[in-house]
Amino acid sequence: MFSRSLLRASTLLALYMTASAQNACNNSPSLCSRAYNNITHLGAHDSPFLRNQETSFSTSGNQYYNTTVQLDSGVRMLSAQVHKTNESGADAWHLCHSSCDLLDVGSLESWLSDIKTWMDANTNDVVTVLVVNSDDASAAEIGAQFSASGIDKLAYTPPSTTTTPQTWPTLDNLISNNTRLMAFVASLNESSAQYPYLMDEFVYMFENDFENVNPNNYSCNPSRPSSVAGSASAALESNRMFVMNHFLYETQLFGIQSPNETYANVTNAQTGIGSMGESVTNCTGVYGKPPTFVMVDFFNVGPAMASVDAANSVTGATGRKSVSTAPLTQGSAGTGGVGKQSSSMFAVVVAVVVAIAFGA
Ligand SMILES: *[C@@H]1O[C@H](CO)[C@@H](O)[C@H](O)[C@H]1NC(C)=O
Ligand SMILES: *[C@@H]1O[C@H](CO)[C@@H](O)[C@H](O)[C@H]1NC(C)=O
Ligand SMILES: *[C@@H]1O[C@H](CO)[C@@H](O)[C@H](O)[C@H]1NC(C)=O
Ligand SMILES: *[C@@H]1O[C@H](CO)[C@@H](O)[C@H](O)[C@H]1NC(C)=O
Ligand SMILES: *[C@@H]1O[C@H](CO)[C@@H](O)[C@H](O)[C@H]1NC(C)=O
Ligand SMILES: *[C@@H]1O[C@H](CO)[C@@H](O)[C@H](O)[C@H]1NC(C)=O
Ligand SMILES: *[C@@H]1O[C@H](CO)[C@@H](O)[C@H](O)[C@H]1NC(C)=O
Ligand SMILES: *[C@@H]1O[C@H](CO)[C@@H](O)[C@H](O)[C@H]1NC(C)=O
Ligand SMILES: *[C@@H]1O[C@H](CO)[C@@H](O)[C@H](O)[C@H]1NC(C)=O
Repeated sequence: MFSRSLLRASTLLALYMTASAQNACNNSPSLCSRAYNNITHLGAHDSPFLRNQETSFSTSGNQYYNTTVQLDSGVRMLSAQVHKTNESGADAWHLCHSSCDLLDVGSLESWLSDIKTWMDANTNDVVTVLVVNSDDASAAEIGAQFSASGIDKLAYTPPSTTTTPQTWPTLDNLISNNTRLMAFVASLNESSAQYPYLMDEFVYMFENDFENVNPNNYSCNPSRPSSVAGSASAALESNRMFVMNHFLYETQLFGIQSPNETYANVTNAQTGIGSMGESVTNCTGVYGKPPTFVMVDFFNVGPAMASVDAANSVTGATGRKSVSTAPLTQGSAGTGGVGKQSSSMFAVVVAVVVAIAFGA
């Protein structure tokens, strides 16, 4: 009696876990049938620029945890600046924050390889990469890095390089075609027949202002590209997707701006002065729908994901690993606090099943 009901319960549990793992797209079954542009993706601004032991807690760092941890935690848009170094040929293009003298975290190719490794292990997820083209690399120079990493094989090619569609494919479409990487570059001066998947960001997206040092001064107004700047209705009519920047800078000596770390717990919260939740609500009012992307610093703090889940009406997301919501400081344990969320859910379910089997 005991073993039969335990067996039945664990079979049901196994079926349930298989089904939920297969049916979730970007951590939720409810997102599978929605168009790529009709959901809100959490973005890690300056994803590879870390403020942790590896960088001696560089004040140029925007995130405490690396790109892999970001993806594990549910971040689905990753931005990075690409600069030209003095190395020759393909090795020249590195990810640097503002300048390669300040913070150089290696080649674009190696970062794309890390993302590829994650995507190969997580086949039901659509990931967006935004390469900020700081030193005007050509499409061929950037495309060569995508090819070398192998991530080009997962890239989606848009129907047009000059206009943005009204509706994008659903997550299900992108996943079943295995074109799960959406690759944008800000900006490309020309498209390339050899790398047709590299999308010129401002053809497809618009952004609000990103330079903000005051929690009372966020704006939903389009700031880039210039063709829609200042006009929410022009941005809306153009079908471009809204990238809502929501991070706060502080001004240091000599006017240098760096991410405001002490206020991040409010900046990334659902409520409070200058919170992300308040910005999403404000901008949803302006555009009649939530932003498609929300870009934040210190993504784990807040946690920023809570406002994104609310915008998507997602509850009970699956397959995410939880990460500490605290700032990472010199005194704290570093990688501590990263754990598998679904395994703790598994433990709860197993405990309930065992309790039932014992007739509790
Ligand atoms: C966007 O998704 C929501 C939620 O599923 C749905 O109600 C709405 O019709 C969709 N909008 C468009 C334009 O597809
Ligand atoms: C790169 O080379 C230029 C010109 O030779 C030089 O001025 C600059 O300092 C070098 N930068 C680095 C990071 O080595
Ligand atoms: C775009 O930039 C690349 C690299 O700077 C250059 O070789 C190419 O001629 C430029 N194309 C146009 C159309 O300006
Ligand atoms: C999926 O691939 C097929 C065959 O290449 C293509 O016709 C279709 O447009 C693709 N769908 C999407 C959403 O990209
Ligand atoms: C508020 O933002 C606007 C641009 O969006 C800027 O011109 C202004 O200086 C900012 N004010 C403060 C107090 O930061
Ligand atoms: C960070 O922002 C908060 C809220 O505006 C402000 O009180 C604090 O002084 C800022 N930090 C720095 C170092 O400027
Ligand atoms: C944010 O952190 C500060 C300490 O750094 C704390 O005093 C404050 O209560 C926190 N606010 C929220 C909303 O968590
Ligand atoms: C949201 O709008 C209110 C009312 O206009 C304004 O006071 C507040 O600063 C805005 N908040 C954000 C985060 O944009
Ligand atoms: C990212 O960080 C995690 C946790 O600190 C670490 O285990 C992993 O090796 C790192 N991954 C990469 C690609 O650096």
